[in-house]
Amino acid sequence: MSFSKKLMQTYFNIAYNQVYDFTTARLNRYRKLQERCVGKLELKDNDKVLCVGIGTGNEILHILGISRNVSITGVDYSSAALRKAHKKALRLGKEIELLLMDARKFEFAASSFDKVLCFHVMDFIPENTEVTSEILRVLKKGGQFVITYPSGKEGPKLGFNLLKEGIHHYVDSGKHRIRASLKFVTQMVGGIVYLPLLFRPKKGFYSRSQLEAIITESTTGDFRIEEDTVYQDFIVYGKK
Ligand SMILES: C[S@@+](CC[C@H](N)C(=O)[O-])C[C@H]1O[C@@H](n2cnc3c(N)ncnc32)[C@H](O)[C@@H]1O
Repeated sequence: MSFSKKLMQTYFNIAYNQVYDFTTARLNRYRKLQERCVGKLELKDNDKVLCVGIGTGNEILHILGISRNVSITGVDYSSAALRKAHKKALRLGKEIELLLMDARKFEFAASSFDKVLCFHVMDFIPENTEVTSEILRVLKKGGQFVITYPSGKEGPKLGFNLLKEGIHHYVDSGKHRIRASLKFVTQMVGGIVYLPLLFRPKKGFYSRSQLEAIITESTTGDFRIEEDTVYQDFIVYGKK
C-alpha cells in the first residue's frame, strides 16, 4: 500500500471513524439518504448482502429494518470502524461477518453476493473504476447493486447545504431545541476532524455520462442514476 493510502487508512482509524457516529451519522439527511439507498436493494429473505466500506455499521440498522433473514458481510479497511460495527451488530442481536479488506481488491470469488451496497465510500477512493468493477465481479448475475458516487466538489457547498438542512431541522424542532442545539454543536466539533479530508489526494468526480460508461463496462444489466443535491451524490442502482 502506498504512503498516501496508508495515511488515509490511519486517518480513518484514529480520527474519522472515531467521531462518525456522533457527527455525520446523526444528520437527518444522511440517515434518510442511507435508508433510501438500502430500500433500492429490494432485499428478500436469504439474500447474501455485501456492504462495502461498512464503516461503523449504520446501514445494518436499515437492512434489518427490512429483513432480519439476510446474511450480511461488511468490509472496511479501518479496523476501528469494524470494531464499532461489531458492537452495533451485537446490540441489534444479529451476527454479521466483518472483514478487514480493501475495496480495491476483494478477497471474494466472482458471483458471491445477491446484493451489494456501497454507500459514501467512493468519495474517498480515487480508483472508482476499479472498485466498481470489483463490486460487479462479486455480484451474482441478476443481483442488485446500489453505489453512491460524488457528483461535485466537496467543501464549502456541501458544508453550506448541510448547515442549511441543520438550521431547518433546528427551526422545526420546537420544544426539542436544547437537544437540537447540542446536536448542532457536536456536528461543528466533528467538522474540525473532517477538515483534513479537503486536502486528500485527487478525488474522482463524475458526470452522468462518465458513470454510464463505467457501469456498462462491467455489466449489461439495467441501471438508473439519481442525484442527491444536498450531498452532491449520484445514486447508481440496478441489476448485473
Ligand atoms: C463515510 S464512511 C461510510 C461508512 C458507511 N457506509 C456508512 O454510510 O455509515 C466511509 C468508509 O469507507 C471506508 N473506506 C475508505 N476507503 C476504503 C477502502 N479503500 N477500502 C475499504 N474501506 C474503505 C472508511 O474506512 C470508512 O469507514
